[in-house]
Amino acid sequence: MFSHLPEPTLDPILSLSVAYRNDSRAEKVDLGIGVYKNSKGETPIMQAIELAQKNVIATQKTKSYVGLAGCEEFNQSMVDLVLGASPVLDRVSVIQTPGASGALRMLGDLMKIAQPNTTVWLSNPSYVNHQPVMEAAGLKVKHYRYFCPKTKQVDSQQMLADLSQAGKDDVVLLHGCCHNPTGADIDFATWQQVTSLAEKNGFTPFVDLAYQGFGDGLEEDAAGLRYMAERVEEMMITTSCSKNFGLYRERTGAAIVLGKSARDAANARGKLLTMARATYTMPPDHGAALVKTVLQDAELKSIWREELDAMQKRLVSLRTALCHEFRTTHGRSDFDFIQAHKGMFTVLGFTPEQMIRLREEFAIYGVGDGRINIAGLTENDISYVADAILKVS
Ligand code: LMR
Repeated sequence: MFSHLPEPTLDPILSLSVAYRNDSRAEKVDLGIGVYKNSKGETPIMQAIELAQKNVIATQKTKSYVGLAGCEEFNQSMVDLVLGASPVLDRVSVIQTPGASGALRMLGDLMKIAQPNTTVWLSNPSYVNHQPVMEAAGLKVKHYRYFCPKTKQVDSQQMLADLSQAGKDDVVLLHGCCHNPTGADIDFATWQQVTSLAEKNGFTPFVDLAYQGFGDGLEEDAAGLRYMAERVEEMMITTSCSKNFGLYRERTGAAIVLGKSARDAANARGKLLTMARATYTMPPDHGAALVKTVLQDAELKSIWREELDAMQKRLVSLRTALCHEFRTTHGRSDFDFIQAHKGMFTVLGFTPEQMIRLREEFAIYGVGDGRINIAGLTENDISYVADAILKVS
């Protein structure tokens, strides 16, 4: 049965963490997987989450099943966080999922059932797991131009030109904020233009919001997708608590569907629940119980918002420090683009070979597509990393 299977290919992000762990060099720097680290290079449990955990442990009386959709209070909290007080809430449905990757797959499977001929358009480049998940769901994938290697910013004109080809059998996947891997986000005017295209040509927007709060703030990071949700007939959204609640290993996320009517949204949810039953039955509860506890308690929520705000500000200051190092120590302004990027990631514009050199010669781990995780830097690494980047460039 198994003897014809080929050797597995390594995951381009997760395999880096293993290689990093096994690297014995003292100077090693992990800029691979998207995990936030503090100035000591640690990823501590957020204080609001620790307090919520004490509360959950003290009050939870059973480990019995929750339900196919997960925790309904968590689900409602996620809709509030993502869509705010949107006028379209009456035609929205939601399920809790095992992380945002779980949400991507559930919605991919839903599309395959609801509209088998769907083509999903991904930005070029996009999160390395987008294409595998969509293809695993049996969907066709196309790419739209997005990132200009020269300016290191979004080329909105090219993006809009490509998306003007997308029609009613198509789904366009957008990054809600903090584009992975580039760090280059579309501006509000581009959200408006993509929305107009969706209304005119009939494609369905699908927004992956994995970093809400890491770009410009919780509300600001959702502004584009909220504008869109108020105007389009149908839309899908995935969201994650891995980064903004630091719950990486708890696999806590949600899949949100906006239907043409409340009935459509409810039917889409019904289908998602049937699919969940045939896949994992129900999502793991612990992370959702923690998030629900934080978001339903004014004091915990305010602690969490402050912590998230501090993380976002630290990312901006690490970007500033890196650009400053290139400018003042090395007299180089051609890395200023790093400052304009949002969230955890930046692409350097390096080839896979240059990324291998960074790893082999300097023990600096970034992803093969040229992505580095700014959140993996500590203030002490800045000068070493800037120097190595210049030696490899
Ligand atoms: C990343 O892009 O590094 C994270 O989202 C981790 C993952 O699941 O790939």
